[in-house]
Amino acid sequence: MSIYIDDEKRLFHLQGKNTSYVMQVVRDGYLAHLYWGKRVHTYRGSNKIIFMDRGFSPNPDASDRTFSLDTLPQEYPAYGNGDFRTPSYQLQLENGSTITDLRYSDYRVYKGKPKLNELPSTYAEDENEVETLEILLEDQLLELKITLTYSIYQDLDVITRSVHFHNQGSQSLKLLRALSANVDFRDDEFELMTLYGAHNNEKNIVRRKIVPGVQMVDSCRGTSSPQQAPFLSLVRKETNEEQGEVYAFNLVYSGNFTAQVQVDQYHNSRISIGINPFDFSWLLDPKETFQTPEVVMVYTDQGLGKMSETFHELYRTNLCRGPFRDKIRPIRVNNWEATYFDFNAEKIEQLAKEAKQVGIEMFVLDDGWFGKRDDDNRSLGDWIVDRRKLPNGLVDLANRIRALGLEFGLWFEPEMVSIDSDLYRNHPDWCLHVPDRPHTLGRNQLVLDLSREEVCDYIIDAISNILASVPITYVKWDMNRHLTDIGSAALPSDRQRETAHRYILGLYKVLEEITSRFPNVLFESCSSGGGRFDAGMLYYMPQTWTSDNTDAMCRLNIQYGTSLVYPPITMGAHVSSVPNHQVGRITPLDTRGYVAMAGNFGYELDLTAITEEEKEVIKQQISLYKKIRPLIQFGKFYRIFSPFDGNEAAWNFVSEDQSETVISYFKILSQPAAPLRTIKCKGLNPDYVYQNVETGELFGGDELMNVGITLPRIKQDFLSMFWRFKKA
Ligand code: DGJ
Repeated sequence: MSIYIDDEKRLFHLQGKNTSYVMQVVRDGYLAHLYWGKRVHTYRGSNKIIFMDRGFSPNPDASDRTFSLDTLPQEYPAYGNGDFRTPSYQLQLENGSTITDLRYSDYRVYKGKPKLNELPSTYAEDENEVETLEILLEDQLLELKITLTYSIYQDLDVITRSVHFHNQGSQSLKLLRALSANVDFRDDEFELMTLYGAHNNEKNIVRRKIVPGVQMVDSCRGTSSPQQAPFLSLVRKETNEEQGEVYAFNLVYSGNFTAQVQVDQYHNSRISIGINPFDFSWLLDPKETFQTPEVVMVYTDQGLGKMSETFHELYRTNLCRGPFRDKIRPIRVNNWEATYFDFNAEKIEQLAKEAKQVGIEMFVLDDGWFGKRDDDNRSLGDWIVDRRKLPNGLVDLANRIRALGLEFGLWFEPEMVSIDSDLYRNHPDWCLHVPDRPHTLGRNQLVLDLSREEVCDYIIDAISNILASVPITYVKWDMNRHLTDIGSAALPSDRQRETAHRYILGLYKVLEEITSRFPNVLFESCSSGGGRFDAGMLYYMPQTWTSDNTDAMCRLNIQYGTSLVYPPITMGAHVSSVPNHQVGRITPLDTRGYVAMAGNFGYELDLTAITEEEKEVIKQQISLYKKIRPLIQFGKFYRIFSPFDGNEAAWNFVSEDQSETVISYFKILSQPAAPLRTIKCKGLNPDYVYQNVETGELFGGDELMNVGITLPRIKQDFLSMFWRFKKA
């Protein structure tokens, strides 16, 4: 059992192996937050809330000037009754007022975890691994019911939260804000960590001290975005990879979000996370309901490494789904950087032949195979093979590639339409747009209005037709612009601000349908790289193209930052040619290989244009990756040196049974008078003796972890070193 309830005290204690989360219904039925942190055996209330009369903090009860919602730590606060901090929700009544009053009404506890209506969420395969508590709050005047759902994965120390609104009254209510979670901490001794970026520069780690006021990250781009990830964590000043407290939040959602910490006048810190209320509203007619996305909350006192380990394990086993969840992923070659739009069947076959020779397992045909797609200005939406390039069609090409002994994969960008396309000519109102206003273009394309059922059906049919008729075992699902002119021709005026969220619900519906129709197709999500690398997409597609930037040095940061939350198996990582197409840098082939091998491995270069010597290196890389693949894809990942701290990076992977490890070290720029460096492995069994697979040398696990390996003198830029040890 992991949820303990004291009915008399109306106290709820969620208890994981190492964590406790405690709430209590306090006077007048308000639900207060009491504690979240390291596990306590029995919570008896030593950290009492001290009530006192504070200036400018209003009181709901005239007879008690010490009780104010402005200072009460709460689970799901409102605005308007005395709490001036960021509220979790806000509703507008038919009379225009926005005052609501939610009080505790009831609770329910059960084993397992519910599926969220129309939204992705983490799941439990065995109902004994998770227990769920639902707390019902009620506004009696409005007959509005809100259910706060908390699920706790006992062994993982993960708590998930979401909120369900139910309008049981007779008037329409307009939701102006409906966040997924609020957590009030009674201090502000924290630093805030978030992940920011851009196209080609995703998932940079930023860490800053928090100060009074609001510190927020968000997206209003219609997707989770490369600019900010729907993730934040509060960490103590002393927290590092190995130790220190971390409170992390990650939203299982792919659309507009907000994630913020607000430090109030008394140095309490409030976390708010959920759908971005900016440009959002949702009409709740009588009897209607609204479900918020889920937020995953991780607490540990063992530093960022443990936080990531927890996210990795949860996402690999309780978020990703389908037969590929536990399957070794194929080594791919993708023709994008080899040919861009300029290819024909012969060229593709030549590339595939070379790929087979070096040991690659799958060929992926990228953009340019349909309509008249000679550049990125046309044809999106017309998912019909271009016979000028592929005269015998897709089936013939796929069969030829399969006859070589490779699997065949295909690129789509299903959520888009080009103005120069039959789809747009036939259905000009199927894109997001606003009447009488010109379109705002991005990559010269428009976004289809996935809030409309017929548009979703078109996408499902168009993609299904191809997947059903061509022997395809992999799909790259791309999305290359953000949402503008957000309006739908199908929605009434008072529901226009629902469009962005309805788009995401439509997308999830399409993905659910297509991925369940084709369970044996491996789907990789992409949005010009990691522009929509989020937990929502991973629920449908178990891997994501991490970045369009394939430069090995840039990838050190991008992959390192991504690993804060997402496991290596989810990160598409390819070796590309030099000079690198995005930054022009020339890095050694082995360095490019070792960087890409830290993820879900593949190639993205013209294999017909490389030397025999390079081919030989590639063959060796592939053969090595095949040997270490189970370890990389299903083992544990440990960060050792951060590229964000300076001129080097290092990490190691350890197999589940600790019998094997691989360690990678990268030096970015060679330095004069450089200090000698020692690299200390992590996650090994201290009692095992490990053998260096290459040299035969033997070292104890304790020695590799505590004494470490001294690195030789380095006199080269972009250098990499790699070790593989097996239990002797
Ligand atoms: C953006 C993707 O990230 C690239 O890998 C490639 O698929 C292009 N789109 C194709 O247009």
